[in-house]
Amino acid sequence: MSDLVVVNCRQVVTLAGPARARTGAEMRELAIIADGALVARDGRILKVGTRAEIERLASANAEIVDAGGRVVLPGFVDAHTHPVFAGNRADEFEQRAEGATYAEIAARGGGIRSTVRRTREAGEADLLAAARRYRGWFLRGGTTTIEAKSGYGLTLEAELKILRVIRELGAEGSLRTAPTFLGAHEVPDEYRGRRCDYIRLLIEEMLPAVWREGLAESCDVFCEPSVFPVEEARGILEAARALGFRIRMHADQFSADEGSLLAAEMGADTADHLEATTERGWTALAAAHVQPVLLPASVCCLGTHRYPAARQMIERGLAVTLGTDFNPGSSPTTSMPLVLSLAVTQLKMTCAEAITAATINAACSLRRGGRVGSLEEGKLADFAIHDCDDYRELPYFFGRDTARAVYIGGVRQIC
Ligand code: NIG
Ligand code: FE
Repeated sequence: MSDLVVVNCRQVVTLAGPARARTGAEMRELAIIADGALVARDGRILKVGTRAEIERLASANAEIVDAGGRVVLPGFVDAHTHPVFAGNRADEFEQRAEGATYAEIAARGGGIRSTVRRTREAGEADLLAAARRYRGWFLRGGTTTIEAKSGYGLTLEAELKILRVIRELGAEGSLRTAPTFLGAHEVPDEYRGRRCDYIRLLIEEMLPAVWREGLAESCDVFCEPSVFPVEEARGILEAARALGFRIRMHADQFSADEGSLLAAEMGADTADHLEATTERGWTALAAAHVQPVLLPASVCCLGTHRYPAARQMIERGLAVTLGTDFNPGSSPTTSMPLVLSLAVTQLKMTCAEAITAATINAACSLRRGGRVGSLEEGKLADFAIHDCDDYRELPYFFGRDTARAVYIGGVRQIC
C-alpha cells in the first residue's frame, strides 16, 4: 500500500497528549496544527505536522489527498450504541408527541419489548443488511469506531445472532466495533412473573456462552429500579466480571444514584446516561475513576429536558465521554455532530471539551486509547475530513453531518 498524504488542511485537530482519558482543563486542549498535513503508511499514522514537514517524509509514489482547506479530525468514537435491531418505532415516536410517555408505551408492551419481538423473528442476513445501512449513516457523521451492544434478543440464540452481526460488521472493516453483551436490557415477556429464572439464564447460560465464543468484551446492564434493580444488576455484573468481561452500565437514566454507586463499586469502565445522578453519584464515580458516557440525544428525543450535569462532572475531574445511544426507541440518531451540538447547547460543554469527549475519551473508555481517538504517530489512520473551516463549526451548524471523506486504517470509506 502506498503512503497516503493529506495536505491543505486548515486545521488538523490532533488531540495529541497524554495516553489516557483527559480530565478538567485538559479537555480543552485539542493540539491543533494550523495548515497541517499528515502521512499514513500501512494503515497507521507516520507523522502529523506542517505541510512542509510531511511532504519531506512521504514516498515518491504517495497518494496525495487535497483536503481543500477543510478540517481534519480523528474519527469519532461513539461510546454507546444499540445498532442491531429489526424494524423501527416511528409509530411510538408519534404517540409520544401525542402525549404518551416512554414508560406508558413500555407498560403496554411497546418500547424495547416490541423491538425484541421483531428482532427475534429476523434472520441474521436481514439484521446485517440493516446494520450495514446504519453503518453508512455513522460514517457520514465522521464516526469510525462504535461500541455496539446486543440486547434486542433476550434469548441465548437471539443474543448470539445479534453479536454475530456485530462481529461481521466489524470484520468487514468499514466501521470498527467494540462489542458489548446487554442481555440484561429488559426482562422478556415469557419471563414476566419469574424474573429470577431469566437472571439465572443470563448468569448460568448466556454469559458463559457469549464469553466462550469471544463475542463480547464488555457486559452492560440496564440498572433501574423498574428494569434491573441494583441487587439484580450486581449479581449479573459480578458473574460477568468473574468470567473476564469488562463492565459498562446504563445507570441513573430515570432515578438517582443507585446505578452510579453500583458502577463505582464494581469498578466499571463507564456509567452511561446519568441524567438523574446527584452529587453523591458524581463523587463516587470520580473516586472510582469511572468514565461517564453522556447521551444527550436520547434526552432530546424523549423530550424530558433532564440533561446530565456535564459541568459538575468535569469540575469533579470526571473524564466525560459522549455517545449517540443510537437505538430505535429513545435515540434514533447515528450523528456525533448532532451530539456535539447538544453537548454545547444543552450540557454547556465547550466545543473543545465536546470533541475530546467524542474522540480520545471515548477511545479510552473502550480501552482503545492507544490505537484510536487521536492523530498521533503509530496510531491507526482513522480520520475524517469535515466540510468546515474551524472545528467549532461542527457543533455550531447543527443538524448536518459534515464528513466529506472518512478513512479507516488509511482506506477511504465514503464520499
Ligand atoms: O439507552 N435505556 C435503555 N436502552 C436504550 C433504549 C432502548 C429502546 O428504547 O429501545 C437507551 O436509551
Ligand atoms: Fe442505551
